[in-house]
Amino acid sequence: MTDTPASWGGWAPAVRDDPAGHFAQARARCPVQRVRLADGHPAWVVLGYDAARQALGDPRISKDMLAALAADGEVVAEGLPGPSFSRHMLNVDPPDHTRLRRLVSRAFVPGRIAALEPAIRALASGLLDKLDLRGPDATVDLVEGYAYPLPFGVIGELLGIPAADRPGLHGWFQVLLTGWAASGDPPPEAVAASDGIVAYLSDLVEDKRRRPADDLVSVLVAAAELSTQELLSSLFQLVVAGHDTTASLIGNGVVALLDHPGQLAAVLADPGLLPAAIDELIRFTAPVPHATFRVTAESVTLDGVEIPAHEQVLVCLASANRDPSRYPSPDILDIGRGDGPNLGLGHGTHYCLGAPLARLEARVAFEELIGRHPGLRLAVGRDALAWTRGDGLVLRGLASLPVVLRPRGRR
Ligand code: HEM
Repeated sequence: MTDTPASWGGWAPAVRDDPAGHFAQARARCPVQRVRLADGHPAWVVLGYDAARQALGDPRISKDMLAALAADGEVVAEGLPGPSFSRHMLNVDPPDHTRLRRLVSRAFVPGRIAALEPAIRALASGLLDKLDLRGPDATVDLVEGYAYPLPFGVIGELLGIPAADRPGLHGWFQVLLTGWAASGDPPPEAVAASDGIVAYLSDLVEDKRRRPADDLVSVLVAAAELSTQELLSSLFQLVVAGHDTTASLIGNGVVALLDHPGQLAAVLADPGLLPAAIDELIRFTAPVPHATFRVTAESVTLDGVEIPAHEQVLVCLASANRDPSRYPSPDILDIGRGDGPNLGLGHGTHYCLGAPLARLEARVAFEELIGRHPGLRLAVGRDALAWTRGDGLVLRGLASLPVVLRPRGRR
């Protein structure tokens, strides 16, 4: 490893559109290395599969960034979007983590998730009906018209957010997630969106307190074990974790299948392959390229490299999932590879709580989309697609995905 750390993040569009080669080069140089983030802060990036899995499961690597860095006397950026939303399970260690996760887990028991399938299918089908109204040969944006509203609608159902309120709330989240500055002052529209979300979620909590229903907000309110900040933070985190990720998987996954017509044909011929295909699409398209930031509570050695205490750690899931020492021919999309689970949904204590829901949503989304429109194709050249949604670190999604659902001659 050289003395000058590589810069990590703030990549050129070409890297963000296709980061695998960039990550492979970095991984070949050193699977665990010191880097400089786009905001100038130092961090360690973990690129190899074994080291990534170890890092995600190692209790000496903390998720409580605020506490660890504050104890170190550092001025800490509060993170997106400030203190009102920072006290959720992804930002704390046990025992707080255990308490927060146990409560929210009540909504994620298998029976409750499976029971959502008809509602998810109805949402997906309704969105496709709307797109179909545009007529044959029409170009539609699949990100705007399908990939985003579907998981946002599902998380709305789960939380008990009235359908009429969802478009406005979704708008605020979009402004916030695309406009919150990593450093420096956030733009006024992002601050306004953040204020709007706080006010809306606070009202929602009050409403569920007065009139409980069969939804997650009511469950959390009734448990009365969360502080107001923990409750609002948890709701915020669930909305973010529950829609942007799945939206990116749907968008990225459609492109990957169009790029690999043989794999698409296999899924069309046997939809029973979809569950395996979805895990392979998570591995291959990396909707969450890096796990959220961690910090070493004490020094930790990963793959022979010692990371001192109080250093930021960024686990690159996208790189780990393409590590040739774990996956033969890692750069090939192969829905039949049968290699077992990958790290795309995390690992260890913070393993994605929504994994069963994400898999169900993605399966239904693909069943409905390609079942109805097996001949869909890109409406623009492949090179025109831009993965500018998200910062390329924790979220990586398409800005838009123009497609023709019913090309001429395929009706
Ligand atoms: C394809 C879709 C999804 C992907 C790729 C994904 C990925 C991930 C990853 C990588 C983590 C771990 C982050 C870390 O350790 O730093 C995580 C955590 C989490 N995810 Fe997901 N996620 C997806 C969908 C969902 C959905 C639909 C929900 C809920 C509705 C959800 C809720 C959560 C929660 C609550 C956590 C935090 C768990 C904890 O801290 O204990 N995710 N997700």
